[in-house]
Amino acid sequence: MAEQKPSAIYLKDYTVPNFLIDKTELTFDLDETQTIVTSRLHLRRNPESKVQTSALVLDGGEDVKLIGVAIDDYALPEQEYTIKDDKLIITATPNEFVLTCETMIEPQNNTKLEGLYRSSSMFCTQCEAEGFRHITYYLDRPDVMSIFTTTIIGDETRYPVMLSNGNEIERGKTEEGKTFVTWHDPFKKPAYLFALVAGDLEVLNDSFTTMSGRDVKLQIFTEKHNIDKVDFAMDSLKRSMKWDEEVYGREYDLDIFMIVAVDDFNMGAMENKGLNIFNSSCLLASPETTTDDAYLRVEAVVAHEYFHNWSGNRVTCRDWFQLSLKEGFTVFRDQSFSADTHSDVVKRVEDVSFLKTAQFAEDAGPMSHPIRPASFIEISNFYTLTIYEKGSEVVRMIHTLLGEEGFRKGSDLYFERHDGQAVTCDDFVKAMEDANGVDLSQFKRWYSQAGTPRLTVTDSYDEQAQTYSLTIQQMTPPTPNQPTKLALHIPVKVGLVGQSNEALSFTFDGQTQDEVVLHVNDVEQTFVFENVMSKPVPSLLRGFSAPVKLDYDYSTEQLLQLMSGDPDGFNRWSASQQLAVNELNKLIAQYQNGAQFSEETPLVEGFKALLADESLDPAMVALILGLPSQAYMSELADKIDPQAIKAAREHLRGIAAKALEVEFKHVYESNASNEAYQASAEQIAKRSLKNAALSYWVASGSDEAKAAVVRQYRNADNMTDQFAALSCVVHFNLAEADELLNAFFEQWKHEALVVNKWLMLSAAREHENGLAQVKALMEHPSFDIKNPNKLRSVIGGLGQNVDAFHNLDGSGYAFLADQIILLNKRNPQIASRLCTPLTRWQRMVPALAEKMKGELERIAREDLSKDVYEVVSKSLA
Ligand code: ARG
Ligand code: ZN
Repeated sequence: MAEQKPSAIYLKDYTVPNFLIDKTELTFDLDETQTIVTSRLHLRRNPESKVQTSALVLDGGEDVKLIGVAIDDYALPEQEYTIKDDKLIITATPNEFVLTCETMIEPQNNTKLEGLYRSSSMFCTQCEAEGFRHITYYLDRPDVMSIFTTTIIGDETRYPVMLSNGNEIERGKTEEGKTFVTWHDPFKKPAYLFALVAGDLEVLNDSFTTMSGRDVKLQIFTEKHNIDKVDFAMDSLKRSMKWDEEVYGREYDLDIFMIVAVDDFNMGAMENKGLNIFNSSCLLASPETTTDDAYLRVEAVVAHEYFHNWSGNRVTCRDWFQLSLKEGFTVFRDQSFSADTHSDVVKRVEDVSFLKTAQFAEDAGPMSHPIRPASFIEISNFYTLTIYEKGSEVVRMIHTLLGEEGFRKGSDLYFERHDGQAVTCDDFVKAMEDANGVDLSQFKRWYSQAGTPRLTVTDSYDEQAQTYSLTIQQMTPPTPNQPTKLALHIPVKVGLVGQSNEALSFTFDGQTQDEVVLHVNDVEQTFVFENVMSKPVPSLLRGFSAPVKLDYDYSTEQLLQLMSGDPDGFNRWSASQQLAVNELNKLIAQYQNGAQFSEETPLVEGFKALLADESLDPAMVALILGLPSQAYMSELADKIDPQAIKAAREHLRGIAAKALEVEFKHVYESNASNEAYQASAEQIAKRSLKNAALSYWVASGSDEAKAAVVRQYRNADNMTDQFAALSCVVHFNLAEADELLNAFFEQWKHEALVVNKWLMLSAAREHENGLAQVKALMEHPSFDIKNPNKLRSVIGGLGQNVDAFHNLDGSGYAFLADQIILLNKRNPQIASRLCTPLTRWQRMVPALAEKMKGELERIAREDLSKDVYEVVSKSLA
């Protein structure tokens, strides 16, 4: 039999469902070896369907075993249905009927972590996007919305806690003495929002009074040993609920909201109605075990999943091509929440830096796609940085174009108009247009056009006329299946800075102002600013007002000036990054030409001014001190030369460290604190600057610094300081590296999330034989290939280990390919994500590109899951 290649599905082929399911009644009889699922689906023909058929086609999976099926309690004989390509086809049905289906599944053997599966001692589910079909036969598509009633039957001693969506309405004993619990969710929802959890769990209870005065019960469930780590998540939840009321006017709708932490989870978390399920790494936090970054992530993910209750659940997606409708919008909402909670500039810098590093790289590679893709083979591959992060940037641009109030009018109209519906990105934009009386038709090209637009800016100043002109050209490079691009509507926020760092006001559009949003909507345009008193330095794309690459030929002096004096905090960071990128590019070229590295850099002058200015937010100073990452420099490179980038970064850091040794020591010491740990913006900021200064100070080679870092490790009372010190010790390969890595493991071996940090740091450690070290980690008793977090730690660590991963002999790539092949069928979603570094092969220097390509070709010869097939075949196309 010839193997069939998986095929793509297309947005343009969308048709409404032929049947609707008004009510869904489910019964789960949970058991250690097999779980019996009985569904009663109240089906009827969809009056809107143009297809005249009485045949019903339900989605299923290879892991679902059909026991029996009945229509209105008439058991169907085998000739009245077929199972083909995992679909259950019932040849003839009435107009309206109840379909009863009995199926058997084996959650304990579910290694894909989609559908119902076991994670440690508990049962849990992950149904987005198409996991529900691995539980029972269903119309598993988001535009089929139904009222769910779920009964869970289980052994009370093993599963004292049995949860599903909505409210618990009944509880009792079955004839065999098992316990049953029935849950009812009054809101209709697609199957991807279904959830079930059962286990021996501990709970933290709390409550929240909504703006209309309703009391909502809040519960967070974990395994017993983790219940002491959910206070911060609970607090984040309450703050999120309040924020959504204040900023969007959105109130929570059920009487109960539950969150459950599970250890084995493919992604971050899931917004199931009333019953969010989280990867424990995105929920648990305690000062001793959790770094500041992880605290902020918990807060952001809790908010994100909570916000989905409106942007995702009450108003959901018509089809999976619209995924960014809920994800882009919800990421925008969680980013705004974090910005309001902490520092908005710091948050913006972090988000932009992530976007420019990872999303830009994705958009420049073979998997590049618009935020609303036109086709896909496997939807799980489209939970991407483009859908999420660029999707958020597109919503942010609408916010910039309409202003705070206009945006709120638009979101109010959107929620009101589409409550209870499954809609499209067009509906979202239409609500924004209608509420504001604006035309966003050109803007909508952002939804269908892939690739990162490039803006090229030139300027001139006329001293006589006191006019300043900016000429902006836009160009979006070709991407797969999109050779040519149309001009986009791009909001570019601009200010002008005078010679002594003063904001220069100007007249634009007949008004005097000192900042303006330019509407770039043509291939080339010139904007004229009048009454500009002196020759300005342009501060372009303030706040990163559009997700584009910007070229303007700044001189080093201009960058130094903006870095210290731009009234826009975001652009001070931007200028510092540009300056550091320029410096690194010079060093990279020197390395590649076999020339001597320069020993001087204007960055020292910039850093010196920065470190002396005590009026600045320490978190901003830390961000500016952070050199452009290995990954970001790779994204910018024509041909990625990992060794050259690494050497250049180390050298540049060394120059700054030696030149400013005294300053770094001072900043390190003056930002130390002996207050009790708090995940507050203020403390986080100080710790980030202290630890940034520490790593420079150690990089200077000072013995005093080496002693200080070891002291910090030993004295730390929180994970942020302990791990920052350990990372320094390991990175600079201090004499204590082995000893402290071992001590760290011994201290924390009972804390899974900390062990993951240890795995990552150990895998990333530069070493004569880094790959052997990674292989040893995968044999270590604390490792478990079934756990995605552990796998991500080790493989992620390897990815940062330049010498081991990018070894010229190709051994690092071959090892990664081995893991992909191993996981291909076991856990296709994870296997597919592991492919990412290899998809960049065409960007690498030729010697490495060849090796990567060879590994992709080797993977392609396997019998592949849809997930891996799509990524590998597109990478080789
Ligand atoms: N909707 C979830 C979130 O963004 C992501 C779930 C994706 N899961 C998956 N297996 N593709 O919060
Ligand atoms: Zn989401």
